[in-house]
Amino acid sequence: MSPILLYLVGLALIFLFVPMAMGKLKPRTVLHLVQHCHAVLLNGKSHLRWFGGLLFGILPPVVWTLSFKMARKLPNEWRPQIRTLLLPRLEALLLSPGGIAVSTLALLPPVLYLRRKVQDPRPIYLLLLYPAWIKALNAVALGTTWTDFQDVLAWVFYGVLHFASPFLMGWWAWGFAPTGAAQAFGWALGLQNLSGLCIHLAFPNAAPWYKDTYDATVVPDYFFPGSAAGLVRVDAVLGTHLYTKAFRKSPVVFGALPSLHAATAMCIACFVVRYGGKAGAAFALMYTSLMFWSTQYLHHHYAVDLVAGSAISLAYFWLISRIALRRIDDSFVRDATTRGIDRLLCRPAPHANDDDRLAREDLEAARPSARWSVSPGQAPARQVTRGRFFGQNSLDPVPEKEEGSQEKLELVERSSGSSHTDSGSDDSRRNSSEHLSIAYKQR
Ligand SMILES: *[C@@H]1O[C@H](CO)[C@@H](O)[C@H](O)[C@H]1NC(C)=O
Ligand SMILES: *[C@@H]1O[C@H](CO)[C@@H](O)[C@H](O)[C@H]1NC(C)=O
Repeated sequence: MSPILLYLVGLALIFLFVPMAMGKLKPRTVLHLVQHCHAVLLNGKSHLRWFGGLLFGILPPVVWTLSFKMARKLPNEWRPQIRTLLLPRLEALLLSPGGIAVSTLALLPPVLYLRRKVQDPRPIYLLLLYPAWIKALNAVALGTTWTDFQDVLAWVFYGVLHFASPFLMGWWAWGFAPTGAAQAFGWALGLQNLSGLCIHLAFPNAAPWYKDTYDATVVPDYFFPGSAAGLVRVDAVLGTHLYTKAFRKSPVVFGALPSLHAATAMCIACFVVRYGGKAGAAFALMYTSLMFWSTQYLHHHYAVDLVAGSAISLAYFWLISRIALRRIDDSFVRDATTRGIDRLLCRPAPHANDDDRLAREDLEAARPSARWSVSPGQAPARQVTRGRFFGQNSLDPVPEKEEGSQEKLELVERSSGSSHTDSGSDDSRRNSSEHLSIAYKQR
């Protein structure tokens, strides 16, 4: 609990007390601000329901944390044999030119499949570069001599941002993604960590630091202490023994495969790409690159672990998006739910005024994630929804969607902009649909 508290206190200090101390904020204004934030957080729910929602979202990560601590209690005679040579061999295979070629080819069928499922296929092709990207990060991480700057950079990602990221990302999802996405994020993160832990226990593998520390003939057992590996150098730079001590007592020492650092970064990347647009995609690429680099630079993971972590993360993201995110996105558009940032800044919901537009466009295409997600092909269900919310015959039939129709719709939007003020009335609808037919005649 303490990291959350520290984080909140820090935020309060920055946003409230610094301006107050400088005499720019009156106590009454602060009171109003606190009341406003309280209302924004509750979002019309009772305290109990709000708290229930929070508990629901953080339940899987909490279960993971408890299971991780309990892993120490497993009797050693139940545990399987530890592998020390498998991962380096697999890595050598994967990163050889042949391995890169074969894995790139292996990515071709899923890419070709996904290409047909999204509106804009260009980013999908980038997936083919994944093996080359892993190879490049591995070469950069292991091909350099250690420097203080790189040590600290790797530590900032591996040791600081990684642990802060679930909290930061939870807030980001609350603020910038549709209501419910933050909970879905908690579940994706918790489930992938739990699966990772199961694999660590059932299929234990030694991390790269094991090879640095022990001779190849040494047979490890479960009494071996953990190692902070590269983070020892960071301890030296910072003048502490924090990581050296913490890692020595780690409950799961031989959990190299899969890398949960990679899985966490990948999970964050998926959410940021889905809800953060182009800037989100750029951020995701940078963040995952630096995290993947740091795990290898610090000798905590082999490249194979990163690939396995990415795969688990993507599988859970796919599952969660089928189970929850699609419904969340649809409700965001259909019911015009607000995001945290909208309520905080007293803005209307992004889809509050666009029921006319919505009725014309496919509900699917209006989802923030439409460009990235697999289309469900549930046309009949959507028809029903549309009828229920917008009245069956209140609008002109929708012309077939084609390339370029997006521009036409934007044109319509501009020309019927004034009708948005009372978009509920029948008159303004008729008005805007007249504009619509004009726009389509112009085509
Ligand atoms: C998932 O596992 C990683 C690696 O052990 C850990 O650092 C992280 O805090 C876990 N995430 C959550 C949300 O529990
Ligand atoms: C139709 O739209 C035009 C301009 O967009 C506006 O001036 C006019 O008042 C609208 N008519 C009705 C009946 O809403």
